[in-house]
Amino acid sequence: MKAVQFNRFGGPEVLEVVELARPAAMPGEVLVKVAAAGINFFEVLMRADRYAVKPGLPAFPGVEVAGTVEAVGDGVDRRLLRQRVAVPLFASARPFGGYAQYVTIAAGLAVPLPEMLSFEDATALMVQGLTALHLPRQSPPAGRTLLVPAAAGGVGSLLVQLAKGQGARRVIALAGGKAKRDFALSLGADAAIDSSEADWPARVRDACDGVEIVYDTVGGALTNGFLDVLAPGGELVFAALGRFQLSALDIETMIGRNQALRGFALLPLLSPDILRSGLAQLFELAASARLKVAIGGRFPLHEAGEAHRLLEERRAIGKIVLLP
Ligand SMILES: NC(=O)c1ccc[n+]([C@@H]2O[C@H](COP(=O)([O-])OP(=O)(O)OC[C@H]3O[C@@H](n4cnc5c(N)ncnc54)[C@H](OP(=O)(O)O)[C@@H]3O)[C@@H](O)[C@H]2O)c1
Repeated sequence: MKAVQFNRFGGPEVLEVVELARPAAMPGEVLVKVAAAGINFFEVLMRADRYAVKPGLPAFPGVEVAGTVEAVGDGVDRRLLRQRVAVPLFASARPFGGYAQYVTIAAGLAVPLPEMLSFEDATALMVQGLTALHLPRQSPPAGRTLLVPAAAGGVGSLLVQLAKGQGARRVIALAGGKAKRDFALSLGADAAIDSSEADWPARVRDACDGVEIVYDTVGGALTNGFLDVLAPGGELVFAALGRFQLSALDIETMIGRNQALRGFALLPLLSPDILRSGLAQLFELAASARLKVAIGGRFPLHEAGEAHRLLEERRAIGKIVLLP
């Protein structure tokens, strides 16, 4: 089978298609023929060796796929054969290798897809969907004014909708460029500010009477801008693993303003039950058109580098998928 790997860290060009033996379903596992493989921004960072976690080489990226069960291992219910499933590799014992034609996973982790949900949309609801589901669970938005950075991206586009659906008073979207701003507004954001304009913090302040929660999925220097717009007593939820740049002085300033800093990491929140129920909830919302999923790019495996480039150059809107 074909799979994507990188054998050195670098630009999108380090991604290459290699021929590997097709995996076999071991006892308790299913073999899934991949119809769509999701790409996440953290994989772009990982490929460039800019992420919190450094993988061994060769590395096989891809933590989420959707497809059809093609074989089952010993002890697995044969009724799973030919079922359409989501495969959350990120929650499994082998959390990688999704940019490929086949994957295996413990049968208990494969989540059935509703008939009305496409394979592509299912991938958008896995890491990104679960992040957008759990961020507001950790820091509830009801009645509060929120800032959602990268609001046209995979996490951001879902977070705008889920937070709004949970009664946020005002959702301020931050996004780079007009097309992304328009997209965020179409998802229900109350205002959309262009993050590529240097004076974006002033524009955020003009658009509301104080941001009460920032869901910081971007990190780096942008976090200081978030502190500029955070109201006294507000909460910064930091979710950009590996990109924390606040100084002790920044944190002291937060203390003086009664502000809270909260960490967010998805994986430790996901017991198998919470994972399955979260995915089932997201799949149901999307299948019934109560949650809009946008697919912003589809690429064959051999163009995985182009897909990464689209994300890296900030040209992506919504979810980017590989179609093996
Ligand atoms: N803590 C967790 O457990 C967790 C889980 C999932 C994801 N995340 C984080 O959530 C973020 C969003 O993930 P995603 O997969 O949905 O990605 P995405 O939002 O679809 O794409 C990344 C977006 O980030 C913005 N961006 C800001 N600075 C950038 C830069 N220097 N280079 C490229 N893009 C930049 C761009 O939007 P604009 O042009 O609009 O700024 C870009 O479109 C990622 O940072 C990821 O690491 C965290």
